[in-house]
Amino acid sequence: MSDGRRVSKAVIPVAGLGTRFLPATKAIPKEMLPVVDKPAIQYVVEEAVSAGLSDVLMVTGRNKGALEDHFDRSWELEQALEAKGDEFRLERVRDAAVLADVHYVRQGDPKGLGHAVLCAARHVGDEAFAVLLGDDLIDARDTLLETMLEVRAEHGGSVIALLEVPADQVQLYGCAAVDPADQGSDVVRVTGLVEKPAPQEAPSNLALIGRYVLDPAVFEVLRRTGPGRGGEIQLTDALQELAGMPAEDGGGVHGVVFRGRRYDTGDRLSYLQAVVQLAEGHPEFGKEFAEWLRSRT
Ligand code: G1P
Repeated sequence: MSDGRRVSKAVIPVAGLGTRFLPATKAIPKEMLPVVDKPAIQYVVEEAVSAGLSDVLMVTGRNKGALEDHFDRSWELEQALEAKGDEFRLERVRDAAVLADVHYVRQGDPKGLGHAVLCAARHVGDEAFAVLLGDDLIDARDTLLETMLEVRAEHGGSVIALLEVPADQVQLYGCAAVDPADQGSDVVRVTGLVEKPAPQEAPSNLALIGRYVLDPAVFEVLRRTGPGRGGEIQLTDALQELAGMPAEDGGGVHGVVFRGRRYDTGDRLSYLQAVVQLAEGHPEFGKEFAEWLRSRT
């Protein structure tokens, strides 16, 4: 286990096929679908960077080249905008390229989220690191990841993000069993985890959302984790084992109960809702858009 508590790297798994959005995602990665005026993935990278994690590793797969292009310079585009004197757009185009130090590793076989995280082992080394899932967007005004990093600095081990969901939705998520929180605290000790439980088997209504701060001990656990729900190697199963391991071996899991604004871009309906909510808050045209929306109802 690592005793260093510094976290500097973020891992973003992006190898998924995006089947829920077909045919829109037939030729472009789902992470490149626009959310108002930026691809969804850019919000996630911005969140990592604003929490101080500017070393970003994307775990990619086939047909994900557009992601690499997006976070690279685009000389032709920049020259064309420069020639036009369009400084505003020029800056926006450059932003994505200079935002973070982005690295890529391929997940050859789609064997699940746990396997995607394991693909990051060599790049991450023996340091704690964050994992951000692209389907969950956290409002830039809320500081979930920063709080999780503080909890890691205080307690060591791993940290997960939890959201209270209606009982009938728990089966869509990983679900946590926790010790009761201290009065007024949103930090809980996690005693068990189960991936997508049937409602009657769910230990609580606390769902895992897609932000994790993981002790590097997770890699050793993932290497011996067999296929779980859906035949995939589940990160939730590895966390379940970490929760039962002693602190000196990198074990222990805490949860931060998130009460801020989260936008789910994982399916078509919630994606549209996320777009509308973020568009309403857009600094340039949010007010006008919100007025137009109200005028239709
Ligand atoms: C994954 C995790 C699940 C978690 C969810 C959050 O599931 O396996 O534990 O609750 O992300 O978005 P997926 O949505 O990829 O099926």
